[in-house]
Amino acid sequence: MQRSQKTNIAPKGLYPGKAPFLEMTKYEKVPTQVFESSAEASRAVAHDIAELIQQKQDIGENCVLGLATGSTPTSVYNELVKMHQQEGLSFSNVVTFNLDEYFPIEPGALQSYVRFMHEYLFDHVDILKENIHIPDGTLPYELVESFCREYEQKIEAYGGLDLQILGIGRTGHIGFNEPGSHIHSGTRLITLDHITRVDAASDFFEQGNVPRRAITMGVGTIMQAKKILLMAWGEGKSSIIARTVEGEMSESVPATYLQQHENTQVILDTAAAAELTRVKTPWLVGTCKWTGYLAKKAVIWLSQRLKKPILKLTDRDYNDFGMSDLIAEHGPAYNINIQVFNELQHTITGWPGGKPGADDSNRPERAEPAQKKVIIFSPHPDDDVISMGGTFIRLVDQGHDVHVAYQTSGNIAVFDEDVVRFADFFKDLNELHTISNNDGTQLYQQVKSSIEKKEPGATDAKMVQKIKGLYDGGKPRLPVAMWALQTKKPIF
Ligand code: F6R
Repeated sequence: MQRSQKTNIAPKGLYPGKAPFLEMTKYEKVPTQVFESSAEASRAVAHDIAELIQQKQDIGENCVLGLATGSTPTSVYNELVKMHQQEGLSFSNVVTFNLDEYFPIEPGALQSYVRFMHEYLFDHVDILKENIHIPDGTLPYELVESFCREYEQKIEAYGGLDLQILGIGRTGHIGFNEPGSHIHSGTRLITLDHITRVDAASDFFEQGNVPRRAITMGVGTIMQAKKILLMAWGEGKSSIIARTVEGEMSESVPATYLQQHENTQVILDTAAAAELTRVKTPWLVGTCKWTGYLAKKAVIWLSQRLKKPILKLTDRDYNDFGMSDLIAEHGPAYNINIQVFNELQHTITGWPGGKPGADDSNRPERAEPAQKKVIIFSPHPDDDVISMGGTFIRLVDQGHDVHVAYQTSGNIAVFDEDVVRFADFFKDLNELHTISNNDGTQLYQQVKSSIEKKEPGATDAKMVQKIKGLYDGGKPRLPVAMWALQTKKPIF
């Protein structure tokens, strides 16, 4: 019984014209294609763009592209660069308009979209400098409005966007059109949503450094593009994609406006498609090949949907929710219920590392070997305890040799003011107990001055990084750890 649901996954290229109607896509309000991987999807998108550039070249016209930044389109740009370098694809007739830019920001800043576009695309292809347009993050505030108007006029003067590529934010933003944006909105200065700033925090090393505003093309500007490709990769995008593709059109998810566009396609990898009906609950949209995996998934879903214990599900319940063929093949409900219930029951064990001498024929407890060397990989210090603390303790209690590998110190997740506050606390604690007065005051002053001197977005001094690393491993342990560090005394 296999996990694959390949029948619901798309062919190699993008739909050449109108998407075919398929029963399995009946809840989808925008033509949507799902690829096995983002690499494969990016190749298909890059080929689509290259074809358009070529077609326009053949008839002696410019190809006007609306471009996006962020992690989503980077592989598309890599592919285009490859096509330029290896297959001679020329960008000499390409005119580009970028969706957005932070405001304010210098073009040379690490996080600037000007810099991004040059690094990923423009510096590696033969595009003419004068054909590149990116909103200007350096403008004085009072000039932004007229700049935005001119940006729109320039797009119009080139005959509009032939193709707009888009990513999507967790808020459902396209460009930086955050929830609340109007369908006819034009290029303008906007305030970034809190979630968008949280998502950008790692690029800026700290959320406080993320600009509060950005200049973005409007939804109306995007909607005037002749063709739109919205891409999304990864599980993190799956729920906003389901709302975009299957939900009601609403200003609270600006990407849903694309449902009204005549020529939009949504391009996904399998992870980003996970919440679409055809992937999540395929029995609701057509006949299924009932693998054991799919049957189990369907039964659990049905029980949650009806808020009924698995053992109480009836034939009628199955029939009402598109699973009559499951009943026909493996029914009655009673048999399927028992089978799935037993399977679930057998995944529960109090002995995750194996139980000495257990009968393991029907349960996950392994009789041999009982003693194991266990390494818990914790991407961030505290993930081990938060996500599997109970198992952690149990493994130790059961005598396994348990180690934790912390994969980062976690220092970048700590705010400057916290480290200053704790250095201050440490100084006072030292004074109070006259442990090592000089050291405490000196350390506090070093931390404070290093943070005061730091440019926004710059990395911390090594000493501050180390302290932040201690802090993030478990907030309250910092003062104690600092004391141990300074006095070189063991904590316990
Ligand atoms: C970027 C842009 C944004 C991003 C979106 C997704 O120019 O307009 O809408 O496309 O925030 O960002 P990533 O691709 O980094 O997930």
